[in-house]
Amino acid sequence: MHRKVLLVTGGAGFIGSNFVLEAIHRGHKVVNLDALTYAGNIDNLASIAGDPAHTFVHGSILDGPLVTRLLDEHQPDAVVHFAAESHVDRSILGPAAFVDTNIVGTFTLLEAALKHWRSLPDGNGFRFLHVSTDEVYGSLTPEEAAFHEETSYRPNSPYSASKAASDHLVRAYFHTYRLPVVTTNCSNNYGPYQFPEKLIPLMIHNAVEGKPLPVYGDGQNVRDWLYVTDHCDAILTVLEKGRLGETYNVGGLNEQKNLDVVHTLCAILDELHPEGAPHDRLITYVKDRPGHDRRYAIDCSKLQGELGWAPKESFRTGIRKTVEWYLDHQSWVAKIVSGEYRDWITGNYGTRS
Ligand code: NAD
Ligand code: TYD
Repeated sequence: MHRKVLLVTGGAGFIGSNFVLEAIHRGHKVVNLDALTYAGNIDNLASIAGDPAHTFVHGSILDGPLVTRLLDEHQPDAVVHFAAESHVDRSILGPAAFVDTNIVGTFTLLEAALKHWRSLPDGNGFRFLHVSTDEVYGSLTPEEAAFHEETSYRPNSPYSASKAASDHLVRAYFHTYRLPVVTTNCSNNYGPYQFPEKLIPLMIHNAVEGKPLPVYGDGQNVRDWLYVTDHCDAILTVLEKGRLGETYNVGGLNEQKNLDVVHTLCAILDELHPEGAPHDRLITYVKDRPGHDRRYAIDCSKLQGELGWAPKESFRTGIRKTVEWYLDHQSWVAKIVSGEYRDWITGNYGTRS
């Protein structure tokens, strides 16, 4: 892809920061709009501090005039929209923020992008890429085939419902106004910079600290895990070659039961951090998450066949790299844990009675 100017939203979060680092590495310029909520962390971007290819803007996608000014000033080739409230447990405890950020925020961004695109003398090159999730499709039984792009939307949590609403708005702006949009629906990501409230970094952190590893319900829920840089690569591929108005499913071709993931993490930690071995003695079954989706699995054959994308990282290598990263970046985790996250541990859904 030739060098582009990208307006990235949520580029200080987990996937967003990995994407910004990769985009800069590939020679693109990035204007990064992030509200720095509890999940946003400017430290994720320390390796590109001072790089003129990266402009960080501390602000919200809910601020329409700010988004309009950034579009006017920087004339981006594309908007890549990650900004969201992203944690299912938080959406159960406090859904309002999910409606505000994920639905109203996406609407605000679409409105600004539409006005901007209409003002361009030749709007053809402009793209609005919306980053979404497989959770909009709901839950699969063990027998059902993986989610494909035509699967009906059946969101079950306030998080997935708010993402589904945002997907529908993006679709409507294409069909009604011809705004050049494309949407990706990806499975669970893992890798560096993931906030330690999500399954994999939470388990690594707790295991290192000798704390209980809270497995929700029977631990048999299935997720399809994709290494985060493979997701970033898929987004760049769709940005370059995706057909306008289309959606592309992105998946790891790697279904795992939660309990198996936790046992894998424990086995790697036994080797790399033997002080606490055997770590699986810390596994604790806790009350299940309400509305807990049983199984997610993604059919990504459209993205593979049409655009030639494939995941590069296997789960075996990716999960090891992830554990190594967290062991090498314990100060990154400690800084987070000493702030908002400390409150979150005591309010964590799974540890409540
Ligand atoms: P995250 O929670 O780690 O990061 C979200 C980022 O958005 C943070 O930097 C936060 O500060 C920022 N943000 C929140 N509200 C904002 C606002 N109003 N204005 C500007 N910035 C704001 O999330 P993530 O896991 O990196 O997910 C990124 C996107 O990818 C989300 O849209 C999510 O739905 C989607 N997604 C995530 C996964 C996953 O496994 N994590 C899988 C598929 C899709
Ligand atoms: P999570 O990382 O929150 O992602 P999502 O709910 O969006 O798939 O959780 C992944 C799976 O792990 C999910 O089935 C819930 C489960 N889980 C636990 O068993 N214990 C935990 O402490 C967490 C955070 C999640």
